[in-house]
Amino acid sequence: MKRWQVDRLAINEHDPAIIEAAAELKAGKNIAFPTETVYGLGADASNEQAVEHIFIAKGRPSDNPLIVHIADVAQLDGVVDTSDAIVQRLMARFWPGALTLVLPLISSAISPVVTAGLTTLAVRMPDHPIALSLIRAANGLIAAPSANRSGRPSPTKAEHVVEDLGERIAGVIDGGATGIGLESTVVEVSEGEVHILRSGAISQADLQEALPGVTVQSSADDAAQSSTGEAPRSPGMKYKHYAPQGNMVLVKGESLEQVSRWIQEQSQAAMNRGERTGILTYDEHAHLYEADVVLSCGRWSAPDEVAQRLYDTLRTFDQHRVSTIFAEACREVGIGQTVLSRLEQAASYHVVHL
Ligand code: TXA
Ligand code: MG
Repeated sequence: MKRWQVDRLAINEHDPAIIEAAAELKAGKNIAFPTETVYGLGADASNEQAVEHIFIAKGRPSDNPLIVHIADVAQLDGVVDTSDAIVQRLMARFWPGALTLVLPLISSAISPVVTAGLTTLAVRMPDHPIALSLIRAANGLIAAPSANRSGRPSPTKAEHVVEDLGERIAGVIDGGATGIGLESTVVEVSEGEVHILRSGAISQADLQEALPGVTVQSSADDAAQSSTGEAPRSPGMKYKHYAPQGNMVLVKGESLEQVSRWIQEQSQAAMNRGERTGILTYDEHAHLYEADVVLSCGRWSAPDEVAQRLYDTLRTFDQHRVSTIFAEACREVGIGQTVLSRLEQAASYHVVHL
């Protein structure tokens, strides 16, 4: 696979690396690229074979649709219906940015491979100079899921993409670590209300603040947890996600003392059973623990930092071949709410409440 090193601050669509990567996309190849959230695995959305190859490379179930990435709202003309007043306000307020809008499809030119046969199309305009330059140079809609093997934590560094997809894809543009570290928030507007289908970098409170008087509902976390019941509205939510290779337990409690004591006892017991044991904690608390591998996800007091480092930390446990992980719950403020939902999914909802 090709690997282009690119300086994110000195980039435009005329950069030789961008021109080369865009030519590969136009030739039907899959190219990974950084966005402000996580790395995406791109394909020309009008090329059915190129899109099919994304599903093969990722090992992704074919009923899980892809997000189409744009650099300019005009690219949506004749493709999706953006006339809804709330949709217009969301686009104006959050694009470019980490908000994905699920919109009614009006074009028959979008392959059902992209949409998994749905009558809607998920769209987002990334806020990242490399992603925007690549989309402009390729001059078309770019379908791009996160560039990880299905089920694994999303990639926040080019190394993660290489680790997961290596020779399965044509190349990766390396623009360094992504800034946010968690995926976009996926929403659908229907009957004057906003429904969050997948929680993400933009919180329910951010959406509510932008739309005073409009109901903003979240069905994301119920959908993720329901194993029976109705079909989740965002198809991807029903699959296992973000999981490290070891078994992970997420620990919540009233006090740090209680949580740290329980984790320390349980990890001692696991080590006595001969299990390679890891603890996921935060800078301020790391001194409380001893285990085979103790990893801090950044400062407990800085949820943005924790979000940015979460997936890299989960992957580091795999590098150390840890088989049992105890994770301390993060602070549930701002983006910390989404971090917590990712930790719950990484633990396959194995959560201990003390
Ligand atoms: O931040 C992000 O969103 C990253 C970067 C690369 O843009 N992309 C990403 O894509 O996370 P992916 O494929 O890993 O997740 C897309 C989510 C899935 O949960 C999928 O089911 C949902 O969006 N989705 C896509 N199209 C949909 C549709 N038409 N209706 C409902 N949900 C949809
Ligand atoms: Mg994904």
